[in-house]
Amino acid sequence: MSGHGDGGGPLRATFGSALSGTVRVPGDKSISHRAFLFGGLAAGRTRVTGLLEGEDVLATGRAMRQMGARIERDGDGWVIDGVGNGALLEPEGLLDFGNAGTGSRLTMGLVGTYDFATCFTGDASLSRRPMGRVLDPLRQMGTQVIARSGDRLPLAIHGPRVAAPITYRVPMASAQVKSAVLLAGLNAPGITTVIEPVMTRDHTERMLQGFGATVSVETDAAGVRTIRLEGQGRLSAVPDFVVPGDPSSAAFLVVAALIVPGSDVTIENVLMNPTRTGLVQTLIEMGGAIDILNQRESGGETVADLRVRHSELKGVDVPADRAPSMIDEYPVLAVAASFAAGTTRMNGLDELRVKESDRLAAVAAGLAANGIDHEEGHDWLTVTGRPDGRGYGGGTVATHLDHRIAMSFLVLGLACQRPVTVDDGAMIATSFPEFVGLVATLGGTVEPA
Ligand code: S3P
Repeated sequence: MSGHGDGGGPLRATFGSALSGTVRVPGDKSISHRAFLFGGLAAGRTRVTGLLEGEDVLATGRAMRQMGARIERDGDGWVIDGVGNGALLEPEGLLDFGNAGTGSRLTMGLVGTYDFATCFTGDASLSRRPMGRVLDPLRQMGTQVIARSGDRLPLAIHGPRVAAPITYRVPMASAQVKSAVLLAGLNAPGITTVIEPVMTRDHTERMLQGFGATVSVETDAAGVRTIRLEGQGRLSAVPDFVVPGDPSSAAFLVVAALIVPGSDVTIENVLMNPTRTGLVQTLIEMGGAIDILNQRESGGETVADLRVRHSELKGVDVPADRAPSMIDEYPVLAVAASFAAGTTRMNGLDELRVKESDRLAAVAAGLAANGIDHEEGHDWLTVTGRPDGRGYGGGTVATHLDHRIAMSFLVLGLACQRPVTVDDGAMIATSFPEFVGLVATLGGTVEPA
């Protein structure tokens, strides 16, 4: 088991005053992981500002150090001296990724084509999650895998002397799988091709281009994307890399402002990459007063400030094809839907079963514990809301080592007449260590229970 930071133990959120004020959320988790990975690989010195200093990302930084990168905190940022593409060192000891699916899977891809052994471990949640989705394409490239049955952590991999570049059609909507194959391709001769039938977050493609890799993307009439990466090319440091605010963290504050009466909250500098904005789109369709202000470019991405006011929401049907652009936001959408008039139907949720917890089951159990009308299917969820939230709350929610379950149900508690307790707040530090403090800044109450 990996240790997790402070904030462990139960937390309780209570209804109080309206939320108001202007805040910034920490850096995007997906981009922060990649900043350590690509900065640690690229030749030269990358300086990163706005990085999320959550446990998941720090685990990726530690892993890159174990493989030869120099990574230091420096003033308001991080300085990374990369090893150069193809020049990672065999790590001594285990790479421990704690709770982090993204860090572990992307790193498996990255080292999967190196002719040395790498051992991966993680916490109880990560050890339950499927790794075959990344190991299968690596096996096609020549990687040997020693794993427990079912391809779960802990496991070891050893790359071939010369890896075979492959063409791989990603069988599920997963940016992690796409990314792992592309990163493996960095150390394989020739062109590695990933075919992505459903577009997922595109940070790997964009950032690899920014670090000088030769990557092309073609999209056909049906929306199928073909991504080609030229292996064994030079990667060059980015002297000044800026990480935008995380829309998946902003999501908790956005929903809190929508459901706590009288609220008026502005969240500055939020990443608005269209592969990440499904929740905002859905909440606006539900009648949420969300103003997207001051849209601008920052570090090759669009960012904006979101002004969010308490709103009368109505239930909507959320199409299955929107799932990739809001895959981490369904738990908190379910909380918003609890206060919407009518029924919200969420479809295409099969991937929620294999996140930090079985998020579909965890959300359904949390809604049940707090008196909220819902129905759970194998890959869908419906929530029938009550705008006044009468009778809601009073429950204790099992978080199953899942930060987003913890934060979603604390947001619920900010709007219920009776408090909501989550059994463990420790995992919040994996992605959003500032969460409890920012809620307090806005006037909300989350305390140890
Ligand atoms: C991520 C991709 C998503 C997402 C995760 C971060 C990434 O996972 O849930 O939080 O940074 O690539 P999948 O690709 O497995 O859906």
